[in-house]
Amino acid sequence: MSERTNTTTPVDDTTAEILDLEEYRRTWATPEEGAAHDARLGAEIERRACVCRAEARAATREMLRAWRVPATYLREPLDLELVPTELGSWADTFPESLRQGGGAILEGPVGVGKTTATVYLLSRLWLSGQVIEADTGRPLWKAPTGLFVAWDDLAAASATSHYFDVGEVSRAFLARAKRADLLVVDDWGSSDRGEAVISRTEAVVWHRWGQELPTVITTNTRGDQFARMYPRTHSRVTDCRARSAPGALWINGPDLRGAKG
Ligand SMILES: Nc1ncnc2c1ncn2[C@@H]1O[C@H](COP(=O)(O)OP(=O)(O)OP(=O)(O)O)[C@@H](O)[C@H]1O
Ligand SMILES: [Mg+2]
Repeated sequence: MSERTNTTTPVDDTTAEILDLEEYRRTWATPEEGAAHDARLGAEIERRACVCRAEARAATREMLRAWRVPATYLREPLDLELVPTELGSWADTFPESLRQGGGAILEGPVGVGKTTATVYLLSRLWLSGQVIEADTGRPLWKAPTGLFVAWDDLAAASATSHYFDVGEVSRAFLARAKRADLLVVDDWGSSDRGEAVISRTEAVVWHRWGQELPTVITTNTRGDQFARMYPRTHSRVTDCRARSAPGALWINGPDLRGAKG
């Protein structure tokens, strides 16, 4: 916290003058002068906030790319009305309470916005860590890590991870999936996989639960189908100990891809 009061690296001379509070107090002769100073200070802080927001957007996009979010989901803007409020409330708690385990299972028909909602969560995860030092514009804080994986890629990595010769990349991928602060597994069950491979993908989620790291799963399965097919995974991701996590959510609505024509 103490770094935040550092005023030794100003952006430029004008802002250094405006933001030097000691100087401000010394030159504050009349209430009118004080009000004028306040107005300039307010305008300058707002200008800086705009710069930070613009930089934050660009940085978020870069980070989402690095977290393997597919390019089509990096377009803006999102219509936040379409993101379930439970997810929004959960994302609000990220700076304080991400380490509770649990997570969310987003179930629903094709094109209702399940995957888009997970990308919203990942961007909120990234921004939750972006504390910008007011005086230098530098980020102060260590970034969280997220990872977006298609379930089929997770299954493919699980299928090859035990091969001595080709398994190294898969094992590295699985290790990353196990330790990311937030893991998204998109389209669970989207392809036919054998039982052994499926249980290895589930083991990744179980490991995360053990470490109190949240996982978000999207799936097209209906009703209690996911719970019946993957009871241990369902139980852990919707674990009620993680009180702020939304658990299982059924998202319904029209196919937004079709609606765009
Ligand atoms: N909150 C949103 N704001 C703006 N556009 C959205 C939003 N949610 C979804 N969309 C649009 O709807 C399309 C479908 O969304 P998405 O791919 O997230 O659906 P899905 O439920 O994951 O579908 P599927 O079951 O096929 O995987 C996206 O291409 C996106 O453009
Ligand atoms: Mg999807």
